[in-house]
Amino acid sequence: MVSWDDGKLELTVGERTLCFPAVWLRDNCPCPACRDPDSGQKLKDITDIPNGLAVAAAEDIGESVVVTYAPDRHQSTFARSWLARHALGYGGADGTGEDGRTEDDKQLWLPADLDQLPQGSWPRYLADPADRAGVLDAVLRWGFVLLRDVPAEAGRVLEVAASFGFVRETNYGRLFDVRIEPRPANLAFTRRRILPHTDNPYRDPVPTVQLLHCLRAADDGGETSLTDGFAAARELRATDGETFQIMAGTPVPFGYTDQSTELRASQPLIQLSPRGRVRGIRFNNRSARPLRLPYAEVTAFYAAYRRWAELLARPERQLKLRLAPGDCLIFDNTRILHGRTAFGGTGGRHLQGCYADLDGLASTLAVLRREEKGREEKGRKEPEGRSNMTAIEAIGELFAGPGANDYLGEPVTIGEHLRQAGALAEAAGADDALVAAALLHDVGHLRSAPGVGHGEAGAQWLSQWFGQAVTEPVRLHVAAKRYLCTAEPGYFGLLSAESVRSLALQGGPMTAEEAAEFAAAPHAQEAVAVRRWDDQAKDPAVTAPPFAHFAPLLEALTRR
Ligand code: OGA
Ligand code: ZN
Ligand code: ZN
Repeated sequence: MVSWDDGKLELTVGERTLCFPAVWLRDNCPCPACRDPDSGQKLKDITDIPNGLAVAAAEDIGESVVVTYAPDRHQSTFARSWLARHALGYGGADGTGEDGRTEDDKQLWLPADLDQLPQGSWPRYLADPADRAGVLDAVLRWGFVLLRDVPAEAGRVLEVAASFGFVRETNYGRLFDVRIEPRPANLAFTRRRILPHTDNPYRDPVPTVQLLHCLRAADDGGETSLTDGFAAARELRATDGETFQIMAGTPVPFGYTDQSTELRASQPLIQLSPRGRVRGIRFNNRSARPLRLPYAEVTAFYAAYRRWAELLARPERQLKLRLAPGDCLIFDNTRILHGRTAFGGTGGRHLQGCYADLDGLASTLAVLRREEKGREEKGRKEPEGRSNMTAIEAIGELFAGPGANDYLGEPVTIGEHLRQAGALAEAAGADDALVAAALLHDVGHLRSAPGVGHGEAGAQWLSQWFGQAVTEPVRLHVAAKRYLCTAEPGYFGLLSAESVRSLALQGGPMTAEEAAEFAAAPHAQEAVAVRRWDDQAKDPAVTAPPFAHFAPLLEALTRR
């Protein structure tokens, strides 16, 4: 339903009534006179829109709405879905009205909250766009990620930065070495401890992403600490609002000087968004210059600064890690404070670092997600491109990974469950493809591909190496449960409690017609066989053979 009233457009979408002013609609008019069809950029300036514009008529035509304006009778056609997606109210990443960079769109943490370190591995990051998206998402969400297996060679850190954005060159060069220097211009180039800080506070804008790549670790000390400055700021606001206001409202001068450099910037230690949410942390006493505020303000500032520094320095806020050669930390320099302990001289500790920016990183992630969505839509028909890994490497990695040690409400882990199912198929004399299907029927859970059922997701992934004799039983093993509940009296009674619970989510027992259709479909009998082993493979008393036992069989199947 559409209506116009008082010069504005009203539109009912589902339960909601959306309301749009005429000037907003006109400014977003998609017609070729208002918007360049190639670039999608607007051709009109805001002053080109007639003053006092009103909606004179609105007409619903299928999935679109045609709006006619007074006084000039211009017409705009909007897709209803576009209007629904752009409903007025609070936009932003999570409907907060913020831009994705504030505390509202982050996952704030104390080290105790991180049951797993946000991390990735460079070869996988390069090979798999989904993995790459996960790593970049971690930087935006947690403020940092530890990327492992970046070859411990000079210059590699630039490749990491270039993989998601643009290197921000500074007076330290495109890349800087962090190691002991004979005449250091910066404390970083000594063996001293460095207290938690953000880098380059004397620059405006600061580099928003920092990378530190370990080429050689110290044999003694040189441990890294990371602190979530946003989490600390939130606590400060909650427990000591006055100090928070002083930190957010007092510009602090920072500076850096060397032979060829004279940098200055003045900004508060806690930077707020226009709506007052925490959006940036600058903390670096090393580079702070003398405050020149009135006496009373300076005294109040120092008292507040001490309280803020004490809160940041609390041991329970410091995540400690030891960078090993090949480790590359990527972190948000507007949020995360980093520091290191002092170290001994014999190990020749050597890091290389560089800077980049969050906007480029977020753009790369958004494009990856766009492409992933495109692949997902296509992927329902076509299998995805062959991964660079062999089936054995990729599957072996899943069985060795943390996901295999998860429990899905059963008394055995997913890894044990799958190996038991494979062994049961083998013991029953099933052919190789069916043993593989039994062994792999829950890989979808191990990969936890979002959005698709785990049978479907697993089959899709396996289709890069295996034919339908393997993938179809995997795809259909969930439907086989729904089928057996209908086709076989007594089957339901054999299901585990967890399996009964998930049955409801999977659509419950099939109708008689559905069951008949299922039974007639290709690979249905194999899917039923996998299902029976699946139901039995939950015995904590059984020791299943290791994954390596099945590797030759899988390898033979991929060669066919
Ligand atoms: C730096 C720095 C930390 C370290 O170079 O910005 O803080 O671990 N280095 O050496
Ligand atoms: Zn137009
Ligand atoms: Zn630093």
